[in-house]
Amino acid sequence: MGTQHPDSNKPLWGGRFTDSPSGRMQAFGASLPVDWRLWRQDIAGSKAHANMLAQQGVLTAADAEAICAGLELIAGRIEAGEFGFDVADEDIHMAIERALTAEIGEAGGRLHTGRSRNDQVACDTRLYAHERAADLMFKLFDCRLAILDVAIEALKDDVILPGYTHLQKAQPVLLTHHLLAWYWMLARDTIRMLAAHNAANASPLGAAALAGTSYPLDRQFTASALGFSEVIPNSLDAVSDRDYLLDLVYACATTMLHLSRICEELVLWSSDEFGFITLSDSFATGSSIMPQKKNPDFAELVRGKSGRVIGDLTALMVTLKGLPLAYNKDLQEDKEGAFDAIDTLALSLEAVQGMIATMQINADRMLAAAQGGYMAATDLADYLVGKGVAFREAHAIVGKLVGELEAQGRTLQQLTLEELQAASPAFAADALDAVDIANVVARRNTFGGTAHEQVARQLKQAMDTQNEHQEQLRLAYPQLAEYQARLRVIK
Ligand code: ARG
Repeated sequence: MGTQHPDSNKPLWGGRFTDSPSGRMQAFGASLPVDWRLWRQDIAGSKAHANMLAQQGVLTAADAEAICAGLELIAGRIEAGEFGFDVADEDIHMAIERALTAEIGEAGGRLHTGRSRNDQVACDTRLYAHERAADLMFKLFDCRLAILDVAIEALKDDVILPGYTHLQKAQPVLLTHHLLAWYWMLARDTIRMLAAHNAANASPLGAAALAGTSYPLDRQFTASALGFSEVIPNSLDAVSDRDYLLDLVYACATTMLHLSRICEELVLWSSDEFGFITLSDSFATGSSIMPQKKNPDFAELVRGKSGRVIGDLTALMVTLKGLPLAYNKDLQEDKEGAFDAIDTLALSLEAVQGMIATMQINADRMLAAAQGGYMAATDLADYLVGKGVAFREAHAIVGKLVGELEAQGRTLQQLTLEELQAASPAFAADALDAVDIANVVARRNTFGGTAHEQVARQLKQAMDTQNEHQEQLRLAYPQLAEYQARLRVIK
């Protein structure tokens, strides 16, 4: 195999050293176990750099060709799982460079001309962050589509459930209204993810260690070759800036926070006490001891994992906060948490998408819950106000009625006209309509309110937003066929 290293005990920077670091310190200093996954980006960056060096007359065309061919070969090996990673390789950049030199000889040793691992790692990480942010946007679209599908169905039957404040029944709302509140959270998250995607889109390559280099590099050449839309104007900033990772991890943490809130509701709703939904068997688990149990494990896990992703954001901020310019080894700690945040969000989005797409809606249970809790009390008071009673007095009359009903274990909907009129002569025959839960919903007809007309308008707005966002991404990524196939125009 061509990956045998010339002197695998000595690091690539071994020139000025007589001893190698101790084995334990080598392991302590290594980032290969984390950054190996940047290999595609590293190879792309090296090819762009070699081609640029040849164009600028720093390398011969033959050397650049040999380098690119060697890099292709190594890529093939890594892809096939046949690449021999070495303990002496501190990171993916050294692993690939060393394998290249072992493979093609002297020309391999010329690749790193005018380059440092400082601009190299920044370049690789930016490419990776840019790509993964796109991936996460597509996963967000999947999740948003699942919510819209349920929202559309629920509006056909005007499914009603209690709306809560303080987790106490407050006023009834349409299920579609509630689901769209979830939808808008994730729509905003997609915008945040897009901002992170764009923040990564600038090339640090050519900044070298920190100050630029004496070789006549063409930074625009490598930036264009790698698909970056611009070149970072300050070499110190180029190697030390990790804001693009903060942006990405922040977008991940905020999305996780939203998923966690959604999952908290899924957990509550699937409990026997609520019974609003039944999770499908494929998105729930059983108990090893209690045969009757069906647990919303995956919803709980998303809720739990959100804590770790918020931790990833905190960790990255703290890592960065005390660093002087320019590169410091602390920056090597940037990737583990960022990768964790990305991976965790990707899986969590799949879990939430799956739970929502396959859950059963128990509309009867929702409606029954909406009949309880005296949620029409405000409307009954408003009815009296409409008949000329002062609001404070109306509030007291209805409050007294609720107290009596509560003692009897009855609902507002079970009141008779006689009982109402005994409480206040201002109640007429149409007073019973005021407590009808569907009427309570229908009366909230302000923009953004829960009346059918408003929710239908809002649903249309959400569908338009979905189609517009998807179209933007479809145009930006014609090459991502696998993702394209998942997008669906919602009608
Ligand atoms: N593995 C390093 C990192 O991830 C690469 C850059 C190392 N540069 C250096 N001067 N030690 O940050």
